[in-house]
Amino acid sequence: MGQTSASFRQDKKFANESISLSEVISALSFAIDLTEGAVQGHALRSCLLGMRIADEVGLSAEEKSSLYYALLLKDIGNEEMIGLRCDRGASIVSKLGMGQMAAEAVRSLEEHWDGTGYPKRARGERIPMLARVCAVAQHLDVFSMGRNANVAMETLEQWSGTWFDPQLVRAALSLNSRGALWTHCKSDDSHQMTRAAVLDLDPRSRQQLDDHQIDRICEAFADIVDSKSNFTFRHSMGVAELAYGIAGKLGLSADRVRLVRRAALLHDIGKLSVSNAILDKKTRLTEAEWRVVEKHPGLTRQILELIGPFREIAIVAGEHHEKLDGSGYPNRLLSADISIESRIVAVADVYSALSEDRPYRAGLVHEEIMPIIRALAPRKLDGDCVDAMAALIGDEMEQRFEPVGVGMEELVRACA
Ligand SMILES: [Fe+2]
Ligand SMILES: [Fe+2]
Repeated sequence: MGQTSASFRQDKKFANESISLSEVISALSFAIDLTEGAVQGHALRSCLLGMRIADEVGLSAEEKSSLYYALLLKDIGNEEMIGLRCDRGASIVSKLGMGQMAAEAVRSLEEHWDGTGYPKRARGERIPMLARVCAVAQHLDVFSMGRNANVAMETLEQWSGTWFDPQLVRAALSLNSRGALWTHCKSDDSHQMTRAAVLDLDPRSRQQLDDHQIDRICEAFADIVDSKSNFTFRHSMGVAELAYGIAGKLGLSADRVRLVRRAALLHDIGKLSVSNAILDKKTRLTEAEWRVVEKHPGLTRQILELIGPFREIAIVAGEHHEKLDGSGYPNRLLSADISIESRIVAVADVYSALSEDRPYRAGLVHEEIMPIIRALAPRKLDGDCVDAMAALIGDEMEQRFEPVGVGMEELVRACA
C-alpha cells in the first residue's frame, strides 16, 4: 500500500521540480495502453521504433518533435469505429497543444500506402509522412509481440508497398540489420528501461510545463476517461468541479485547491482497464467482475506515480473509494490515514456518481442525493466536506426527503 495521503511528506527531490511534457505524456500513455485490446508498453515501444526510423530517413527536427508525441498518443481516441477513433484522437492531440502535424499524423494513422485504408483511402505520398512512420512503428511492435523481431521484419517486408511506405520499410530493415532498431523494445524489456529510453529521446526536453498547461493535460485525460462509457459522460469533469468548489469553501490554499482539482480530474484514469462489458452491464456485477472494478484506484495511483511531482496527486486520486470507517477499497484505510484532500474527492465522487445515470438506475436529483450523502457522514464520508458541498450546491430542499435506508450500502458501493 505504501504511503497514505495523511502521512504523505513531500520528498525534497520533487518539492520544486518542474515537469516536462514528455514525462507527463509518457506516463499517461500507460493509461491508454490499459484499454481493451491494447498491450502494455505499446505506446512507448512504438515511440522508440518510430523515432529511430525517422532518424534513419532524415526527418527534420520539427517533424521529429511532432512525431514523438503522435507516437505516444496515437491510440488516444477510444472509439470503436476506426474512422471515428482517428478523428477523435486527432482532436484530443490538438487540444493538448501538440500542433497540427501531430494531429494529422494521428488522423491518418490507419491509411495504407496502396489506398485501402481509413478514413480517406489516401494513397502513397498523399498520406502525411508522420502517419506513415506511425503505421510502420505500431505494426512492428504488434507483429513482434509474443513472437520475435524476425517475424515482425518478415511481415513488414511482405506488406511493403501495400500497407507500408517502401522507403520506410527499407529504413527499418537497414536499422534491424545493424542491430539498431529494437533496443529496449523487446517484450521482455522492463517498462522502466523503455520509458527511460523514451524520455532520453524527448525532442522538447527543455520544455517545462506551466500550471496552465498541466491543467489542460489533466482535463484532456479526464475527457478520455469520461468518454469511455456513455454513463460516465462528464463524470471526472463533474467530480473536479465539485471538489474544486468544496476545497475553496473549506478555505484550502490555492496550491491545495489545484492539487485537489487535478486529483479529481484523474481519479478514475485506472478505469480505462475495466471493460465496457462491465462498466455498461445492466445487471448486478458478479464477485469476479467486482474484483476487476476494485483494482481501478490502485491502477490510477500506479500510473500517476510515474510522474515524480505528481506523487501526492497519485495518492489522493488512488484513495477516492476509501471510506473513513475502513469499509472502502482498495486498502480499507481508516480516517487517520485519509487527508482532507482525499476526503473532498471522495465526497465529490459519490455525489457525481449518484447524479449520473447508470445502466441499472436513472441518475438521482440533488434532493434525492443529499439525504443519502448526509446519512454516510460522518461514519464513511467527512462531515465538513459534506457541509461544504451542501452549502455550495444549496440544500434547501433536502429536509423534505427521508434518507433512503434499504439498499443504500449497495447503492453507494456501486458508485465505482
Ligand atoms: Fe469516479
Ligand atoms: Fe472510481
